[in-house]
Amino acid sequence: MRNQQATQLLFELSKPGRRGAKLPASDVPARSLSDLLPAEHAAAFPPPLPELAEPDVVRHFTNLSTKNMSVDTHFYPLGSCTMKYNSKRNERIAALPGLANLHPYQSEDSLQGLLQLLYELQGMLCEISGLDAASLQPAAGAHGELTALMVAAAYFRDRAQQTGEPRRTKVLTPDSSHGTNPASAAVAGFEAVTVRSTPDGFVDLADLRAKLDRQTAVFMITNPNTLGLFDRQVREIAHLVHEQGGLLYLDGANMNAILGVARPGDFGADMMHFNPHKTFSGPHGGGGPGAGPITVRAMLEPYLPSPVVTKVGDRYRLAFDRPKSIGRVRSFFGNTGVLVRAYCYLRTHGPDGLRRVSEQAVLNANYLLAKVKDRLSVPHGDRCMHEFVASAAKIKAQRGISAMDIAKRLLDYGFHAPTVYFPLTVKEAMMIEPTETEGKETLDAFADALVRILDESPETLHDAPHTTPISRPDEVRAARTPVVRWSPSA
Ligand SMILES: Cc1ncc(COP(=O)(O)O)c(C=O)c1O
Repeated sequence: MRNQQATQLLFELSKPGRRGAKLPASDVPARSLSDLLPAEHAAAFPPPLPELAEPDVVRHFTNLSTKNMSVDTHFYPLGSCTMKYNSKRNERIAALPGLANLHPYQSEDSLQGLLQLLYELQGMLCEISGLDAASLQPAAGAHGELTALMVAAAYFRDRAQQTGEPRRTKVLTPDSSHGTNPASAAVAGFEAVTVRSTPDGFVDLADLRAKLDRQTAVFMITNPNTLGLFDRQVREIAHLVHEQGGLLYLDGANMNAILGVARPGDFGADMMHFNPHKTFSGPHGGGGPGAGPITVRAMLEPYLPSPVVTKVGDRYRLAFDRPKSIGRVRSFFGNTGVLVRAYCYLRTHGPDGLRRVSEQAVLNANYLLAKVKDRLSVPHGDRCMHEFVASAAKIKAQRGISAMDIAKRLLDYGFHAPTVYFPLTVKEAMMIEPTETEGKETLDAFADALVRILDESPETLHDAPHTTPISRPDEVRAARTPVVRWSPSA
């Protein structure tokens, strides 16, 4: 029989008078509650907190921590999210007291080590991207997109004042782009216009030409794209965008496929963001803190958020005197804890190591693709970059098994599910990204599980997962109206 205690809330486990700590008797005079608290709070005292012994609390939280899957416990092929294993060494370095205990209001002179690190990181990101200037402030990839579009808007405003050209109102995004791209465009005050993809998954140049005009500020491209394909037309795309006076933005979420192999600045991008939590061992999840640094071409540098880290002689400084800057987008210098991890990652791997990271990511994805493609259709070809998108559409039509059924059943086999139903351009999409940190044995085991699942009965799959504490929650309701507060009547 299942241990009830493992599934109960602390409030349900509570026993009046039970304590987790024993304090010595007080040797100072007691004060009445009404001296210490306003009347309305004193009346509600003590609050109805659970009363438990220490082992009850420790077991409760330890059990909770094992109910979910994580990269440290399971293979996690969540496409687009790049859930690779992050070395613990980078965590330890970021937690060193000399870095973690710094206060952002300390004087610049007492922050020279951190500022040097951030300055060097800016330089490394510029080198990797083939661009000229960086801002480390944005707090996530999507925030980097927004920041870069705000930079673009400021640049075009300035240019319009000098040249009298009309306002640029549109940002173009391919239909395979991540939802944050059009969302960032809208938040930055642009009209988001979708550009179609061809049936083989690339930007439809005819549709792009039809939609590009002198009102286009930016075309946002993800390359490799969310189908795991590198769009070789990118130089031509850059040329078309530049011909109309617009800028090319590279969504750098998939940089782990091309590090040290291709540089966005070299293939025509004018600005881009990095997702250090996908590419450079930043921690994922929990809503942050994250980072989404951006790099831009020299003509956009004056508009970058302030401050940027500069070097004057042999001292590192925060430059605030930048009259064209869009201002701050994040307090202080950004989420430095994440940036320190990125710095450690880059220093550890070095230029050759980074190239090997990408080669391994692409090799692993192609190995897995080759192992599953005879059983699960992969509409966009026999080769991929760091991830590929399979489709359960045929199996659904033949046997009533959906991408969601397969994804849920994988949990029973001890694997995190791949991303499903994204990108929207593929029916019953399953977006699989093994990442470079997985060994052959793990990839083999995952492919075997996938094939075994496809041989199971539809009934078994419709009810999966069978081994998790909750099987199929109403995911929309859980996301939109989560109940995160306990109340006695709930
Ligand atoms: C292709 C792509 N672009 C942008 C983003 C947004 O990045 P973030 O989650 O850091 O805001 C993601 C995140 O998954 C992504 O996959």
